[in-house]
Amino acid sequence: MIYVTRKSTFSAAHRLYNPTFTDERNDAVFDKCNNLWGHGHNYVLEVTVKGLPDPETGYVIDLKELKDILDDAIIQKVDHKHLNHDVEFLFGIIPTVENLCVVFWDQLRNRLPSGELHRIRVYESDQNVADYYGEPVSIPRYAVGASMHGEGVPA
Ligand code: NI
Repeated sequence: MIYVTRKSTFSAAHRLYNPTFTDERNDAVFDKCNNLWGHGHNYVLEVTVKGLPDPETGYVIDLKELKDILDDAIIQKVDHKHLNHDVEFLFGIIPTVENLCVVFWDQLRNRLPSGELHRIRVYESDQNVADYYGEPVSIPRYAVGASMHGEGVPA
């Protein structure tokens, strides 16, 4: 089995908080990441596809094709966006690097023309990275509205 990886980058803002927590608890749990107007990261997304090379092309997957799929399914939707407010597939989800892996997996799972999705890796910084291999995991989607989509604006 061969594993091929395409790396993409995007820049985005986010805020980490749980709308069911009190302000005090959000501050205690998320600290600076709970900053009201968010903060930014330069993210790195690595997508690994496994398979056997096609005997006629030598490709597990055409990496140009994978790049185009990543751009369409993920990068164009998150780059220079606020992950809490601008990205439909993230509405109501706490945009940690862990949860981004799971949501990105869902965006890609049925879109590969060849090979099999093996790993999603998301770097939030050089120091913080998460890996996801597609094991079943359920992440809560909190109600959007007064809570995660424009709440907290001072009167
Ligand atoms: Ni952050």
